[in-house]
Amino acid sequence: MSNKLRLAHVVFQTNRVKAMRDFYCHLLQAEIVFENEHMCFITYDDEHHRLAFMAMPGGLLERPPNGVGLMHSAYTFESLDALLARYSLLKDDGLEPVAPVQHGPTTSLYYRDPDGSLAELQIDNFASPLQATEFMHSEEYIDDPLGPVFNPERMLQALSRGTPEQTLITREWARDDSQVPSALARLSGIPVEPM
Ligand SMILES: [Fe+2]
Repeated sequence: MSNKLRLAHVVFQTNRVKAMRDFYCHLLQAEIVFENEHMCFITYDDEHHRLAFMAMPGGLLERPPNGVGLMHSAYTFESLDALLARYSLLKDDGLEPVAPVQHGPTTSLYYRDPDGSLAELQIDNFASPLQATEFMHSEEYIDDPLGPVFNPERMLQALSRGTPEQTLITREWARDDSQVPSALARLSGIPVEPM
């Protein structure tokens, strides 16, 4: 008997089922599996549902930006090209990340959903989870667990000029962009302007 678990789905209770459905379907290029007046289930892969949005009878209290609860959910692409292709597609539609962060273990783009929570589109920078875990035990990581913010437009330009991907997904490359504010400021519950 195996006790192995895998994450199945996340369900948001919301006053904005349709807006949340549209946001996550757009962000994740997901499709609707089931919906009625009060709820909607969506998926972006072969699982029957990955996210759901549910209204509650009588409505819900809005969560303040400094309220407790889920900070973000995260979704991993298989390549930097795929992550940046999604970034460009979303940007063309007017949706931009509030925080592009070079964590070290991952290259991450955080988007704010209609209820104010974050959704992280990412790639794994290391070839294996073990290597990422080792980095998370390093002094560099302990000193700065979040890492620097980076500019995805600059990354796209560097990629098109032939800068190697392995260079672009480092904290050193991200740190060269000195004018951007800290990751924590951008990831805080206080909404910030898109870059
Ligand atoms: Fe994350």
